[in-house]
Amino acid sequence: MHISEREEELPEAMIAKLIKVASEDKSVVSLGAGEPDFPAPPAVVAYARKMIIKANHYSPPAGRKDLREAIARKAASENGIKCSPEQVVVTNGSQEALMLAAASTLDATEQVIIPSPAFLGYTPMFELLDIVPVFSRLDEEFLPDVDDIRKKITKKTKAILICSPSNPTGAVYPRKILEQIADVAVDKDLLVFGDEAYEKIIYGAKHVSLASLNGMAEHAVTFQSFSKSYAMCGYRLGYAIAPKKLAAAMRKIHVYSTISASTLSQMAGVVALKQGAYTEKMVKEYDRRRRMIVSRLNEMGLETRMPQGAFYAFSKISGDDRRFALRLLKKEKVAVVPGSEFGPGGEGHIRCSYATKYEKIEKALDRIERFVNRQ
Ligand SMILES: Cc1ncc(COP(=O)(O)O)c(C=O)c1O
Repeated sequence: MHISEREEELPEAMIAKLIKVASEDKSVVSLGAGEPDFPAPPAVVAYARKMIIKANHYSPPAGRKDLREAIARKAASENGIKCSPEQVVVTNGSQEALMLAAASTLDATEQVIIPSPAFLGYTPMFELLDIVPVFSRLDEEFLPDVDDIRKKITKKTKAILICSPSNPTGAVYPRKILEQIADVAVDKDLLVFGDEAYEKIIYGAKHVSLASLNGMAEHAVTFQSFSKSYAMCGYRLGYAIAPKKLAAAMRKIHVYSTISASTLSQMAGVVALKQGAYTEKMVKEYDRRRRMIVSRLNEMGLETRMPQGAFYAFSKISGDDRRFALRLLKKEKVAVVPGSEFGPGGEGHIRCSYATKYEKIEKALDRIERFVNRQ
């Protein structure tokens, strides 16, 4: 059978292998997974149960009207983004929204600048579309180096992709940096893709949506998700908020990719948007784990900045990060993700997810400490 070059050139994600090993070998403690360990909010589950009987029809490609209206209201009140429901495109997770936006705005061989390390779903997704990712550097606080972004701009650059709160670093970009990026976008007439999948998993810092900044109405595309905010990864529900013309283009492509997001998930999504108290409870527990994991990692000599958002600790290690992760798995049965999985800026780091029970994290840390001491 002929397999396309496009597929063959896609890298095999090491994280998938690690998660597979962790799920098959019960003695492995995994700090690999990037999804909440909490169930979906009870009110969402109860509503989904009730509505399943009515959820057998396709939805409109842009999403159900009630959900798009609720999202537009949420964007205005929580994110300071003024938008109409026509600017909202509801998708199968925010990953699909990003793919639709990329397919709608960049042609083959055009470039997108990505501060690295970055979420490992970006690069292969762009490469599937023959779009070229160009990496720029983060500074020592894991914040984008805006001068470096400027230097990386060529005639082929069409967009900059930023992610705050960040997977994998946990950094939350302050308003000032976002304003500088917004200035670059206006100056060079570029789009900025703002991945805000972790907007609500944040510890005291303020989340600023790029699309809320002056002059960004025609330049920013916002991606948000139900996966992390409401522990609904499996519902596969996310969305983009885009300038009207782009939202229409994404809608058109959506018809030919997955037609629409799941009707049942969209029904449940309307209820999820009212579950702020549930999110707060999760964040409180993530915060408790965050303080413990970061202080223990630093104590054992793995330098780790205190993340301001998301649920990952991103630690410096000595030597090759892939070798470190593989040996840690073999010798101590702990799964972590090597930093280089997140692009060139991630080398020499490991990512430990704390979206796992407190006691399991403690157990994993005891093993990591033993491993580090034996090195
Ligand atoms: C930064 C980031 N963006 C987007 C996604 C995709 O999330 P979803 O498609 O579930 O909304 C993830 C998933 O882990 C992520 O970490």
